[in-house]
Amino acid sequence: MKSFASSLGNKNKFLILGCGFSGSFFAKTIRQFGCTALTSSRSEDKDPNSFVFNSEKAIVPNEKIFDGVTHILSCIPPDKQGNDPVLQSLKSKLQNLSLEWVGYLSTTGVYGNTKGDWVSEMDQPNPFQERSQKRLNCEKEWINSGLPVQIFRLPGIYGPGRSTFDAIRNQKIRVIFKKDQVFSRIHVADITNAIIYLLQNKDSLKFHQIINITDDEPCSQIEVIQHCYDLLGLKMPKPIYFEDAKNELSAIAQSFWMENRRVSNKLLCKTLGYKLIYKNYKLGLKNCFLNI
Ligand SMILES: NC(=O)c1ccc[n+]([C@@H]2O[C@H](COP(=O)([O-])OP(=O)(O)OC[C@H]3O[C@@H](n4cnc5c(N)ncnc54)[C@H](OP(=O)(O)O)[C@@H]3O)[C@@H](O)[C@H]2O)c1
Repeated sequence: MKSFASSLGNKNKFLILGCGFSGSFFAKTIRQFGCTALTSSRSEDKDPNSFVFNSEKAIVPNEKIFDGVTHILSCIPPDKQGNDPVLQSLKSKLQNLSLEWVGYLSTTGVYGNTKGDWVSEMDQPNPFQERSQKRLNCEKEWINSGLPVQIFRLPGIYGPGRSTFDAIRNQKIRVIFKKDQVFSRIHVADITNAIIYLLQNKDSLKFHQIINITDDEPCSQIEVIQHCYDLLGLKMPKPIYFEDAKNELSAIAQSFWMENRRVSNKLLCKTLGYKLIYKNYKLGLKNCFLNI
């Protein structure tokens, strides 16, 4: 990969708003390219590279944080009311900066239920869940903000520290079978690397405002769980039929099973030429297994 110093200049300063699982992976990686990356969380942090931002408590970053910022990545989901925490608290502040780029991590949930069919950025979103409608509203608000925003729609995110191995270890695994049900997924390293690839090649690639970042092979959850048990050398518990399990699932867990879709990455991987590090769950889980 080209270094940022050569392709983007060494004066890049990133604010990563919402430094959770994906945000912290991005921050760590971008720093390795020599860029400055400051990260937000909702609680006090003594780390000199992080600051507090909490829209619910009206805590906004101080002015100095924004000095010289060129790039922003928002990894913060809509709040309970469906507002975008960043736009609600910081929109006019951001509009007054000279930003080169703003990234927003969204979800493929906006596509709704395609009954297992493939769906791409060309398809109209058709949210099925209320939270996905809220997300789509936030996407629209980002697009209408006038900021140079690029939206990344993500399926289930996994990686070291957040994978089926962790669910097995924490005894939170449920082996559920639902005929013909598939999920798309993405390794956290591919979210970061795809975004960096797009930034590095910004001048030569056609700009697309909405891009899916998913791996090549949507598949059933049970296939993934079986593979993890195989790698661990353990016997997978007997699967439970979804119909028998659903009353014990939380409302949010149930809702994930109500949608069935295969999300296409053709725009990112064919049209724009990004090469996935982990093109399927087997490769991605191998990385998680090695980092248990
Ligand atoms: N997890 C998935 O499988 C998945 C799938 C598709 C899309 N997404 C979306 O992709 C984005 C990144 O996902 P992730 O799993 O990496 O996120 P995550 O680990 O849950 O981190 C979310 C971050 O947002 C911050 N945050 C939440 N509410 C906030 C508020 N009101 N004000 C300020 N900060 C707030 C959190 O602060 P603290 O650090 O203080 O907690 C945290 O840093 C999210 O929008 C998520 O909904 C996730």
